[in-house]
Amino acid sequence: MFTKNVRRVALIGTGFVGMSFAYSLMNQGGADELVLIDLDVRKTEGEAMDLNHGVAFAPSNMKVWAGTYADCQYADIVVITAGAAQAPGETRLDLTAKNTKIMKSIVEQIMANGFNGIMVVASNPVDILSYVAWKASGLDKSRVIGTGTSLDTARLRYMIGQYIDIDSRNIHAYMMAEHGDSSFVPWTNVYVGSKPLLQMIDESEQLHMEDLQGIYESVRDAAYEIIERKKATYYGIGMALTRIVKAIFNDENSILTLSTYLDGEYGHSDVYIGVPAVINRLGIREIITLDLNEVDQAKFDKSANTLKETMNDAVH
Ligand code: LAC
Repeated sequence: MFTKNVRRVALIGTGFVGMSFAYSLMNQGGADELVLIDLDVRKTEGEAMDLNHGVAFAPSNMKVWAGTYADCQYADIVVITAGAAQAPGETRLDLTAKNTKIMKSIVEQIMANGFNGIMVVASNPVDILSYVAWKASGLDKSRVIGTGTSLDTARLRYMIGQYIDIDSRNIHAYMMAEHGDSSFVPWTNVYVGSKPLLQMIDESEQLHMEDLQGIYESVRDAAYEIIERKKATYYGIGMALTRIVKAIFNDENSILTLSTYLDGEYGHSDVYIGVPAVINRLGIREIITLDLNEVDQAKFDKSANTLKETMNDAVH
């Protein structure tokens, strides 16, 4: 699965999200080789040239080229960003039918070329499309991973950090379930340093419980707000993809909220959904099951059932 000493990533989709990931990966020295694959060959050649011309400024000499699905054979990780993006006013789930067809075709071509590594899906709706990719690939569920709510979690930590004026890296909080409108925050599981946020608010004159709903809604609706202003989102998800790829290559055993296959965890099975998961060079090592109170478990159930219903309509 991993070629000796050469960390190769194949990227399917050289649109804004894919190239934001590529740019972020190069600038963070996250891989040794990056092959760009897209239907638009001329543009992809240009993207490779543009990135290669900046490599002297990068922390390492990552080799980038415009390639084909044949290059997936020796890739350790394939990142899939291809597919239609949300238009203003469109939900991610609205993209299901269109992008399911595209995802199946992409994964079939990847596997036909002997890929045997880890697949990371960012295309939306990412939970549905991670399931589609897993089914079409035949890979073990631990090796098909969706970006899930990893970006939502980063947004949540950023917004909590702004609210309490503490560096977001000291905030342990998770946005869970669908990467979309039915996601939720299990607030009883949010810690600032090692102090529960709810206890911090309780003891504070300046912080108020009722502000938490506003923070949640800002995270849930962030993509809509950005799309309304600049037509698409791509830097945040691009950096989330780099975070995931580095966690794999560095065998980190880090916890990220990724779209992961449930086999009974949180009371659900046969669904991909955003949960805290331990990730390393073999993919998903294990799912972290948080103690959810009744209200949060009901939110999780609603989200999981929404995804299952959408999937049944589109996939089965
Ligand atoms: C967003 C896209 C990646 O949330 O769904 O920005």
